Amino acid sequence: MESAEIRSRFLNYFESKGHTVVPSASLLLDDPTLLFVNAGMVPFKPYFLGEAAPPYPRAVSAQKVVRTLDIEEVGKTTRHASFFQMCGNFSFGDYFKEQAIPYAWELLTSPVSAGGYGFPEDKLWVTVYLDDDESVDIWHKVVGVPMERIQRRDMADNYWSMGVPGPCGPCSEIYYDRGPEHGREGGPIADETRYLEVWNLVFMQFERGEGPGKENFPILGELPSKSIDTGMGLERMAALLQGVDNIYEIDTTRIILDRASELSGRKYGADPKSDVALRVVADHARTCAFLIADGVLPGNEGRGYVLRRILRRVVRNMRLLGTNDPSMKELIAASITAMAPQYPELLSEQGRIMSIAAAEEETFLSTLERAGGFASAQEVYRLMQREGESIGLTTVYRSLQSLVNDKIVDVLRRDDGEAIYRLCGEAHHHHLVCKGCGDTVEIEGGAIEKWAKMMAEEHGFREVGHTAEIFGLCAKC
Ligand code: SER
Repeated sequence: MESAEIRSRFLNYFESKGHTVVPSASLLLDDPTLLFVNAGMVPFKPYFLGEAAPPYPRAVSAQKVVRTLDIEEVGKTTRHASFFQMCGNFSFGDYFKEQAIPYAWELLTSPVSAGGYGFPEDKLWVTVYLDDDESVDIWHKVVGVPMERIQRRDMADNYWSMGVPGPCGPCSEIYYDRGPEHGREGGPIADETRYLEVWNLVFMQFERGEGPGKENFPILGELPSKSIDTGMGLERMAALLQGVDNIYEIDTTRIILDRASELSGRKYGADPKSDVALRVVADHARTCAFLIADGVLPGNEGRGYVLRRILRRVVRNMRLLGTNDPSMKELIAASITAMAPQYPELLSEQGRIMSIAAAEEETFLSTLERAGGFASAQEVYRLMQREGESIGLTTVYRSLQSLVNDKIVDVLRRDDGEAIYRLCGEAHHHHLVCKGCGDTVEIEGGAIEKWAKMMAEEHGFREVGHTAEIFGLCAKC
């Protein structure tokens, strides 16, 4: 089933149950607690909090979402994405659990011929919040899910908030068992790759206050009314319904991935490391297209910085794939081809999106050129930023060794048999210099010398062109 079809089935089902179809809001909403819309419920937040009167008691939407918290996971797992679409049904003080649960079940398990997604009931598992006996009863007695496929989980897993002050409540999640070849038996509490979360039903009841993480915040009180916020990830659903292994291989994302593969000449599926890079490019290029479409420009702060970082990760990954030529224009075009059937407005913005992305790419490529092209030095740099002054010699030493593997250091063996190496860049001792913003980080004296000694003593290499500074790019650039 194509992504566009999954989306329209969701909207149609809930429309037939009296929900108003609300178009996706922009990724940029005027909410001081968020950089981007990070959940389908964000546009409706004032209705949950009672700050504004909802124009409808029930709504359904397929909302564009950007989440960058787990950006390092993108491409490595089957299910992390920086951009995705969340299908959701919402009740603002209208129905509650007793209807939200059967609705979700009916849509998931109704046959495809009857407008549903056709999931076999015995492949679905559910989780509920620890003390939510009411939901357990609905799942078991009303819907008929056997008790052994209902699991209770604590706040970290089954209590949802936006991560910042706002509406919150216990939730109940539905998982699909992809089978033993994907991991361990035992339900979602045992393995979240085998048991893939497909739908989260949040029972919005409380308002949370300030506090870190998913568990450490005060509950300020009850919301004016009990409401429903659900989220079904369109891309995950597509992966299941299209029988592919991960969300990067579904109909839409695959178009972008294949373009990256053509541009780089790297075949998808041939090498695990290249596959990760291709998936990162596919995910990130699309995110760039949507961010620029909604009005973000690359910059050094806030939203602009997020865009810059994501776009530069595309460029870096294309270089890892062996492509040093500009490719943003082609990747943006592929992203728009993939997404325009659902977001036709991308087509009229295509020229603008492409030229902003291409200009940023050009700036970055010339920065890399000046830096000697070794963006991975930023890993050492980031490490140093995190560890600050206290970074130990051993850590630097180990990091520099890893640079050899990343080809940050040229290791050569001359014709006459002599082994030599050269740090890529000009050489001194004690600094990492970011060629993007010019920031400098001191390396503890002697670190590079110590590394040089190791190269000589352990590997029989002689250093040529010893460096004054290691030029790299810091985490910000
Ligand atoms: N707000 C919940 C989520 O994002 C359900 O929509 O998972």
